[in-house]
Amino acid sequence: MIVLKTGRELKIMKEACRISAGALQVAGRAVEPGVTTEEIDRLAEQYILSQGGVPNFKHYEGYPATACISINNEVIHGIPSAKRKLRAGDIVSIDLGAKYEGYHGDNAATFACGDISEEAKRLMDTTRESLYEGIRAAVPGGRIGDIGHAVQQYVEERGYSVVRQFVGHGVGTNLHEAPEVPNFGTPGRGIRLMPGMTIAIEPMVNAGKPGVEVLSDGWTVLTKDGSLSAHFEHTVAITADGPKIMTVI
Ligand code: MF3
Ligand code: CO
Repeated sequence: MIVLKTGRELKIMKEACRISAGALQVAGRAVEPGVTTEEIDRLAEQYILSQGGVPNFKHYEGYPATACISINNEVIHGIPSAKRKLRAGDIVSIDLGAKYEGYHGDNAATFACGDISEEAKRLMDTTRESLYEGIRAAVPGGRIGDIGHAVQQYVEERGYSVVRQFVGHGVGTNLHEAPEVPNFGTPGRGIRLMPGMTIAIEPMVNAGKPGVEVLSDGWTVLTKDGSLSAHFEHTVAITADGPKIMTVI
């Protein structure tokens, strides 16, 4: 069931999203050579708690941390670790969210660690832009397939591929709720978009083929072909005036 949010609910949810965006900014600014992913996770958690929020990934289906931090060929769900030190040239995808007064925010971005290759920059730029293409398609009267199509077309035109096994999602009083929001699709297909829907749009883009596999830790998702992967995500409200990005400070 798709839950439409009232204006009052969107105001509370905006606060959860503001905290989520602030935590992502704090985490992203900490990305530099020599830092461990656990240190970044701790900074994000401290920020969320300082703002009166709760890290909403922690304990979600047993997930052990505040953030998912996924490096290079890791697509999503990398578990922060004191043993994992960032190195110059890495691209670092950080995904995290906060719950505030019962509502969730969810966002992600890929950050450069020191100097990165031109190819890595182009992958990050393409993934970030594909998110905005998807957001532009999130208008009342449109359909869920319009969003996926916009993302997929932008990505594939540039020679990259979108991950199929993981998708975006509705977000509200649950971190994950209906509908699914794939990063691929056919225009005019899928459920109709309506004011009051709140969705997380989150393209995961591989430099190589779309296939992924899960590491033996049960969480970390890697590209099957070992290629680089990037991930950007915003929580977006669909309103009568068009899409509103909620995860901004
Ligand atoms: N952030 C993921 C998403 O965007 C969910 C993470 S699941 C967790 O949907 F268990 F790792 F928290
Ligand atoms: Co999400």
